[in-house]
Order: sequence, then C-alpha cells, then structure tokens
Amino acid sequence: MLDVISDSQYFNDHYLAKCQVDTPIDIVEQAWKIAFQHRQQFLSVVDFGAGDGKFAHGGQYSNYVGYEIDSRRTKHTSLPSNAEIIHKCAFSDVKGNFDLCIGNPPYVRHHELNDEWQNKIANQLSHELGIRLDRRSNAFIYFLCQAILKTNDTALIVQVIPYEWVSRPSCSFLRKYVEDKKWTVKVYRFEQDVFAHSKVLTTASITVIDKTGKNGIWEFYTIDNQFNAVRVQSATGSNEKVLSYKSRSPFNYAQRGLSPGGQKIFCLTEEIRLAFKLKIGIDVVPCLTNIRPVPDKIALLNTTSFQKYLVNAGEKCWLITPTVTPSEELKTYLDSVSAEDRDTYTCRNQSPWWCYRAHPVPDLLYGSGFTKHGPKIFINEIGAVAVGAVHGIHKVKGISKIQLRKALRTFEFESRIVSHSGVLKKIEVNQMNSVIGTILNDT
Ligand SMILES: C[S@@+](CC[C@H](N)C(=O)[O-])C[C@H]1O[C@@H](n2cnc3c(N)ncnc32)[C@H](O)[C@@H]1O
Repeated sequence: MLDVISDSQYFNDHYLAKCQVDTPIDIVEQAWKIAFQHRQQFLSVVDFGAGDGKFAHGGQYSNYVGYEIDSRRTKHTSLPSNAEIIHKCAFSDVKGNFDLCIGNPPYVRHHELNDEWQNKIANQLSHELGIRLDRRSNAFIYFLCQAILKTNDTALIVQVIPYEWVSRPSCSFLRKYVEDKKWTVKVYRFEQDVFAHSKVLTTASITVIDKTGKNGIWEFYTIDNQFNAVRVQSATGSNEKVLSYKSRSPFNYAQRGLSPGGQKIFCLTEEIRLAFKLKIGIDVVPCLTNIRPVPDKIALLNTTSFQKYLVNAGEKCWLITPTVTPSEELKTYLDSVSAEDRDTYTCRNQSPWWCYRAHPVPDLLYGSGFTKHGPKIFINEIGAVAVGAVHGIHKVKGISKIQLRKALRTFEFESRIVSHSGVLKKIEVNQMNSVIGTILNDT
C-alpha cells in the first residue's frame, strides 16, 4: 500500500501536467444523468482522481469522497457539506464498499507512468482482482480496476474514459473480467471532441458498468453534441463487428514500426544528414516515420518517390544505424545529442544508448492510422525501415506484393475498426494479421 508521504515521489510535474484535464460541466451533468437512469438514489459515492471535485456538484447522494493527489487542485473549491476530498493516492488505504464510483480519471500512457508506482499498483490490483493486469495499460485502466474493487456488489460505475478500452488488446484482460462477471455494460461514445479545450487526443466515452446486471450484455451508443444517444450494433459504431485479432504466421505477417528510442534523435532529415556528413548505407539507412507526405496513389516507394516526397520535402527519412563501432561522423552526431534528449525509457535500457534492436526491412509499408476507407500501403522498393506508427508487412510469400497490396487496398477497414481519437482509426498489428489471413484464404 502507498502512504501519503511517499505518494509525491511517484507523481512529478510531467505526470501531473499530463493528467490534469478538467471535465466540461455539461459532460459531468450528462454522466450524472446517465447514473440516475440506473438508480433512483445513491448513498456513498467515490471519485478517484477528483481534481477540484466537479463531480461532487452534479448529483445527489448521502456522502461523496474524492481522492486527489494534488492539494493545489482544491485550494479555491467549495464543496457541498456532505462531500470531502482526501489528498491521497486513489490506490492508498481506501475503505471501499461504495454504491457509485463516478469521475474522470487520468489518461496517461504506460511508459509515462513512474516504473515503481506502476509495478506496485499493477501487483496490488492483479492480486486483489485475481487476474494479471496488462502492463501496457493506460492509467485510466488502473483507475477502472480500482473502481471495480472499491464498490460493493450492487454498485454502479460511471466513468468518463477513452472509448478505446472497448477494443484495445491491452484492455482485453479487463473486458474479459467484466464479461465473466456477467455485469451489464453501456458505452456511450461521444461524437464531439469532449477535450477540445486541452491537448487530449482521444475519443471519449461515458462507460457504465452495472454490477446488478447479470446477463452480460454490452450496449453501445453514440452521443451527439445535444446528448442524444443512438444505439449502434457494435463497438465500431457500424453494424459490422470489430476486426478480430490473429497472431503472426512465419510468412506474410505484420509487425509494428520500430521504436528506436525517440524519433527526434534517431531519425534525421536530409539537412541534418548532410550537416554531419553521414553516409547512406553506413551511418544511416532509409526509413519511413510518417505516411502522410506520400500520396495515396503511389504504389511503389522507390528511389524517385522517396527522394521527392521525403528527402526533398525535409521529412525525417534517415535512421541512424545501431552500430557499436560508429564512424567518426556518426560518433560526432551521437555526441551532439543532448543527455536530455536521450533520456528516454528505450535509450536508458540500451547499451550503448543508440544500439536499438534492428527490425528487418518489410516488403510493404502501411500507416497504422487512417481516417477514410483504410490505410495507405506502399511496396517498399527503397528498402525503408518502418518506424513508429508506420508498420510493415514482412516475408510476403504465395502472393505477389502487388496482389497483396491491391487486396488490402480494397478491404473494408473503416466500418470494422474503432476510432480512437476523433476520426482517426488505428489498425492493431494483429488485426492486420487477421486481415492478411482472410485475404490469403480467399486467394
Ligand atoms: C483527468 S483529471 C480529472 C479531474 C476531475 N475529476 C475533473 O473531472 O475535472 C484526473 C485527476 O486525477 C488526479 N490523479 C492522478 N493520479 C492520481 C492518483 N494516483 N490518485 C489520486 N488522484 C490522482 C490528477 O491530479 C487529476 O486532478
């Protein structure tokens, strides 16, 4: 268990800046409205990550307790007389047995969480839930687990959280847990950008878990900016089911883009390459970090298109090679990288810091994110390494690259993928593997 004195060491300014996003008042009201569609009254209410206690104001209850680590958030707040905010970590000694857990917990990606805190809390939650928490989970998943643990058997959970939890592989352990309990779930997906006032890029939802439900039914709704809710058939928002997941086969498999330890320092523009006199094929190799500059109509990423859309356009298109014996020129470049820029999780775990584990060069390159129809896909004639959100398809066999590209380009991705942030949809690697499997079976 964490105690109040030790909490502060886990939550630095970077973490606080990431997670301190206020919920718009009309969204707070909507969350309460949805809560009252399920129950007539609430006795004890808990809010994990309470901020200035916005959710203490929207509803009716006998008693409200908010947990908030940052006391500065409540300096100028006045709360109803039956509400209090405790300045403690939401995972400290919380008594539990609440009737309702309502709120908007922090959204912080796993590699931005303090390692020690993450380990401690993941172990604590895994132990209490009796399942293994996926270490790739975003902070809000930890909070949702805590909501489940600290509410009673007939409780309601109403959380403003990213919609992605209904489909992300890292959340499948929790979906399965909830499914096994047969609780009923309603997920309201906002069409509007709820956090437009902040830098948060996510499609938001109000997620309701009703522990009195015993049929295990999950219902999905979209909500427009007037808060009209329309029921949809599946999590995709269309009548199509979410694309399934399949692990990779030895051939024709998708692999995520390389994460060398920070594109800022590992992926260079032509200008920087020339400034440091880095040699192509020795110090650097071609890479694709961003699919956007290359037009959709291009089928082949070859010397000409690479030069035109990436090199000449000033894109980061040269990846430094992970050699333990760098040339004089590469050494000069590596020495020029500031300690601050290479203070990333990946660099800290590499020795020397620039020696990342290389990925093979894929046959096809595609953007894992897309807005319409499906992803851009190119045949990788230049031999570029896929980096970051650009993923690759490797060891194409039994089908030509042209045929595979064509089949992928005509595949209907849009209605079968859950949107993660606004109109942006993202294909997970193993979803691409399942699509490739379907294409190969059909040909
Ligand atoms: C997204 S904000 C929401 C604030 C408020 N509930 C609202 O809706 O406006 C999340 C809050 O969680 C707090 N927080 C982050 N980690 C926490 C923890 N481990 N325990 C308690 N509060 C935490 C942050 O300081 C932040 O105020």
